[in-house]
Amino acid sequence: MNYATLTPAHIEKLTAIVGAGNIITEKEKMIDYSHDEFSQAEIAHFPDIVVKPHTTEEVSRIMKLASEQNLPVTPRGGATGLCGGCVPIYGGIVLSLEGLKKIVEIDTENVMAVAEAGVTLQELYQAIEAKGLYLPPHPGDENATVGGLVVCNAGGARAVKYGVIRNFVRGLEVVMPDGQVTMLGGKLIKSSSGYSLLHLMIGSEGTLGVVTKAIINLYPPPQAIYTLVVPFNSLGEAIKTVPAIIQGTIMPMAVEFLERETIAVTEDFLNRTWPTKDGSAYLMIILDGSSEDELMQQAEAIGQLCLDKGALDVFVADDKTKQHNILEIRSQTYEAMRGNMLEILDVTVPRASIADFVAAVHKASEEMGIWLPTYGHAADGNVHTHIMRARFDKGKWTETPGWQEKYEKARDRVHELGKEFGGIVSGEHGIGMVKKEYLTHFLDQVQLSLMRGIKQVFDPKGICNPGKVI
Ligand code: LAC
Ligand code: ZN
Repeated sequence: MNYATLTPAHIEKLTAIVGAGNIITEKEKMIDYSHDEFSQAEIAHFPDIVVKPHTTEEVSRIMKLASEQNLPVTPRGGATGLCGGCVPIYGGIVLSLEGLKKIVEIDTENVMAVAEAGVTLQELYQAIEAKGLYLPPHPGDENATVGGLVVCNAGGARAVKYGVIRNFVRGLEVVMPDGQVTMLGGKLIKSSSGYSLLHLMIGSEGTLGVVTKAIINLYPPPQAIYTLVVPFNSLGEAIKTVPAIIQGTIMPMAVEFLERETIAVTEDFLNRTWPTKDGSAYLMIILDGSSEDELMQQAEAIGQLCLDKGALDVFVADDKTKQHNILEIRSQTYEAMRGNMLEILDVTVPRASIADFVAAVHKASEEMGIWLPTYGHAADGNVHTHIMRARFDKGKWTETPGWQEKYEKARDRVHELGKEFGGIVSGEHGIGMVKKEYLTHFLDQVQLSLMRGIKQVFDPKGICNPGKVI
C-alpha cells in the first residue's frame, strides 16, 4: 500500500479538528498505542499521530481528511484484543475512540442501551444494572469498549445460552472511511429490509468504517446464578459429557473446560485455590434461573448427568464469594499463562467434535515436544490452545528447548487439525493481523473474493485499518 506521509500541515488540520490536547505526536507517549493485549513488543508498530475525537462529527472530519489525503487510519477502542487488530501497521493515524464516552440512554421502554464507542463494558454493565436490566454476554475483559466489542463480535463464556455480541446489537452509527455518517438498523427487533449492512459492520474489525455509537438489546436479569465445578479423571471424559448436557432440557449459560495443569498456573499466579484437587480436568458450568428452587433442581439434574458420565464429584457454588473465586481463576487463566506464552489460538470446531479435536491437539503437543495446554468454551466448541515457551510443573517454569522452531509448526498443526474437524480459525478473538494467513486456509476463493469486494466497496482507498482481516 502506498500511503501519504503525515506532514506538519496534516497535524495542523487534525489539531484544528480535535484541539491540541487531543493529539499525541511524541513517540515516547505513543507506546500504549502501538500494540494491543497480544504479545506486545513482537507486533508493535508506532503511529505517526494519535488523535482523540470526542464527537461523531470530529470522527467524520478526521476520516474525510484522511481519505482526501490518503492517510491510513487505525481505529482503536480499549485495545484488549488478542490478534493485533488495532496495531497501526502502516503508521499514520491512530484514531482513539476513548473520548466518545456517553451512555446516551438506557431506554427502559424499548429495553435497549444506546452508548458511544468509547464506553467501557464495565461502565455499560453498571448503567444497565442501575436500571434493573441485564446484558447477557460477558466477553471477559471489562476494559473493552463498545466500539471494539461490536466490531470484533466479542464472545465469551455465556454465549452457550445467549449468543455473542452480534445477537444483541440492533443499531450502529458508523462513520464511513470517506467521512459520511450513517445509522444502520435502529431500536428494532426485526428487520428484513435488504442486505444487512449492520451485520457486515459487526465483526469487521474496523476495516469497513468506524463505529461511533451502538444500540444494544437488553434482557431482564436472572434472579439467581449457580456455578458448578465438576472434576473428571481425564479431559476426554469431561468434554464428552458436554453433548449430553446440551441435548438435555436445561441450557446452561456457560460450559467451560479446564485442565488441572492450567489451573495450577492460575492458582499460583492469583494465590487462589480451585474448589477441588481431585481429577485432572474440569467442567465449569454456570446456570441461571428465575429462582433458587429452580436452580437447585437444575444443578441436581446436571450434576447427576455428569456423575453418570464418570464425574468424580460435583461442587456447587451457590453464593457470590465462591462463585467469584471460581470465575476469577477461569477468567484470569489467560493472564496467568501470558508471561510464558507465545500465542493464544482460538480455533472453533462443531461442539460434537471438540473432544476429538482437543485429543488431537494433545497428541500433536506430545509429538512436537511443546506444551499446548487447552481450555475454553466447551459447549461453543471454542478451544483456546496456548502455544507455550515454557512448561509449568511442580510450581516452576522450565523453558522448552527449541521452542523457536517448534512454534510455527505447532501453530500450523493446530490450524490444520481445526480444518480437519470442520472448524474455523477464530470463534471470538478475530483475525486482526496475526491470523490473516489462516483465514485464507479456512475460507474458499468464492468467500475470499466476496470479502475483498466488500472491503473495496466500503473503503475503496483502503485507508481504514489497513493490513487487517483480508
Ligand atoms: C478466555 C479468553 C482468552 O476465554 O478468550 O479466557
Ligand atoms: Zn475465550
